[in-house]
Amino acid sequence: MKLRVMLLLLMVSVIGFGCQQSFNFSDEKDAEQQDNTEEVDEDSEESQNELSEQKPVGEGDEENNKNGEEETSEQANDEEGSDEKAQKDEPVHGEKNEEGLVVVDNPESLEVLVNKQRKLPDGYQPENLVVPDVPFSFEEDAEKKQMRQVAASALEELFQAAQQEEVELLAASGYRSFQTQTYLYESYVEKDGQEAADRYSARPGTSEHQTGLTMDLTSAEMAFQLDQSFKNTTGGAWLADHAHEFGFIIRYPEGKEDITGYMYEPWHIRYVGKEMATEIYEENLTLEEYLGYGYEEVEE
Ligand code: DAL
Ligand code: ZN
Repeated sequence: MKLRVMLLLLMVSVIGFGCQQSFNFSDEKDAEQQDNTEEVDEDSEESQNELSEQKPVGEGDEENNKNGEEETSEQANDEEGSDEKAQKDEPVHGEKNEEGLVVVDNPESLEVLVNKQRKLPDGYQPENLVVPDVPFSFEEDAEKKQMRQVAASALEELFQAAQQEEVELLAASGYRSFQTQTYLYESYVEKDGQEAADRYSARPGTSEHQTGLTMDLTSAEMAFQLDQSFKNTTGGAWLADHAHEFGFIIRYPEGKEDITGYMYEPWHIRYVGKEMATEIYEENLTLEEYLGYGYEEVEE
């Protein structure tokens, strides 16, 4: 009898364990997914800590958003770089089209990467385009005065800081629609030939200007032109040293054409947020390298 009871107990515990195992298995999967989410959260928490070490409380990107229009929580998450981990683990973020270009699936993200290999979806137009309250190198109202709200607010901070240090900067060219980029690129090809144009002008659909996260800057010292000599001017040198403090990077750095696909453009700044910009600046990276796309060769 005792033996039977023990056998019965043993069977119950074996069956119970089996159920527990299979229950745990499906739980583990859930946990795995949960872990990934948690990793992202942890990362943003870590980033927050890093950020608070680097700058006084209250200067975060959130402050930029305060001035912004209402956003969906998805946009807000993206804009704070919370999908950074996902991007690094899965660097493709898009699918190749018939021409072999990746069509990016995260055009609204601050981590969006468009270049000679990666284009924006057809018809893409960013939301929340506004005209930043900064001095421009021209008077008239124009599409190119605009930027996405988050980038426009950051640009205003950058200009205020420059003005405080008596550094003169002027905004020259921000958002460009697909149609404008088509017109520009084709004019450059006509003027300089395709090979030369491809070194400084993006083919339609592949320009960062279409994201609304970019602005070209110049100054009176530069006679309002965009030229590599900007680097040696007060404004250009200040920009190179301070852009990251406001969340911007010099997107096409000197000596990195083999990675970015474009000649050095000391005037072209791209908003990525303060945390990413600071890391890119401190480690002397391109956006491609930071995001894990170290293109060795740029396919023409
Ligand atoms: N000048 C940059 C590469 C553009 O055309 O977007
Ligand atoms: Zn530019």
